[in-house]
Amino acid sequence: ISLKAFNTFGIDKKAYFFGIAKSIDDLKEGIQKAKEKGIPLVILGGGSNILLTKDLNALVLKIEIKGIKLIKESETEVIVEVGAGEDWHSLVLHCIAKGWGGVENLSLIPGTVGASPMQNIGAYGVEIKDVFQELKAIHRESLEKKIFQWQDCKFGYRESVFKNDLKGQFIITHVVFKFQKKPIFHVEYGAIGKTLSEMGITDLSLEAISNAVMHIRKSKLPDPKIIGNAGSFFKNPTISKIQFEIIKSKHPEIPGFPTESGVKIPAAWLIEQAGWKGKTFGNIGVHKLQPLVLVNYGDGDGKQIKELSQKIQDSILEKFNILLQPEVNFL
Ligand code: EPU
Repeated sequence: ISLKAFNTFGIDKKAYFFGIAKSIDDLKEGIQKAKEKGIPLVILGGGSNILLTKDLNALVLKIEIKGIKLIKESETEVIVEVGAGEDWHSLVLHCIAKGWGGVENLSLIPGTVGASPMQNIGAYGVEIKDVFQELKAIHRESLEKKIFQWQDCKFGYRESVFKNDLKGQFIITHVVFKFQKKPIFHVEYGAIGKTLSEMGITDLSLEAISNAVMHIRKSKLPDPKIIGNAGSFFKNPTISKIQFEIIKSKHPEIPGFPTESGVKIPAAWLIEQAGWKGKTFGNIGVHKLQPLVLVNYGDGDGKQIKELSQKIQDSILEKFNILLQPEVNFL
């Protein structure tokens, strides 16, 4: 079947075998089937962080394990277990309606709950690691259930153990979160404060922050339903303080944010400086408002998008001596 409707880039590539897992039993059956056929098993969530570059001679299994279950409640906190197949933004809206704080800054991020810890999704000063309690996963070989605590996940900026040491070994079935009944509002991120005041909002609430975040996202990130994309294509690189000073001597206006390991540079700035912002090549291109986002305007080809990303990488390496790392997974 065509996977076009199952990836937010809207790339028209096929899966030779396709299934939907609504339960852990379905999932185990899928794992067995792929084994019997001797083909790879590709797990799909919302398809919002992948780039299909070819037809997949594999069993593509879309995880649709649902449910939002209240596990524990105290005066100040709730512990909630969520099925991997729940839509991320629907969970955010559910939390806001219930008055549970913690994920309002992560409004409108495409994708599913199960994919969210994989790359420790983050936006506007909050990352999923800030609300994460534990997760449940199935081992692909033994089919055994395993619980991963916070430390086990080794969260980093757009990183977790599931993208590194344990890559391809576990399939996440449920994620358990801790939300605050007396929320602490995170408005440190410049754009949020600015937007709240532009919107005339003085009384902070979960809803107000969510609305501000949605407003910012809609103003510069293309809606994948209209223009195919997978959000930020690259990660923001961290370089050494020395390298930052060297670049700064040539480009005094370079933005940089000090971190524990150096200085984080907005990849969007680098890509814009290298002249890519708004460039189109046939059906694909670099978004005109947020150059960190590569886009598919129509029948774009995943391989061409991959090639474009490599050209961007090459030019940034040449101009700034910085190697951009893709955030998107190539399939
Ligand atoms: N910038 C430019 N030119 C532009 C746009 C941005 O130079 O055309 C520079 C500016 O210096 C700006 C800076 O980039 O201040 C940061 O831009 P923005 O606030 O849009 O954030 P970002 O660093 O590009 C990251 C995440 C986003 C997340 C936003 C908000 C990564 C790879 N991306 O983008 O996450 O929504 O911050 O927190 O860290 C995603 O992962 O898919 C994603 C969209």
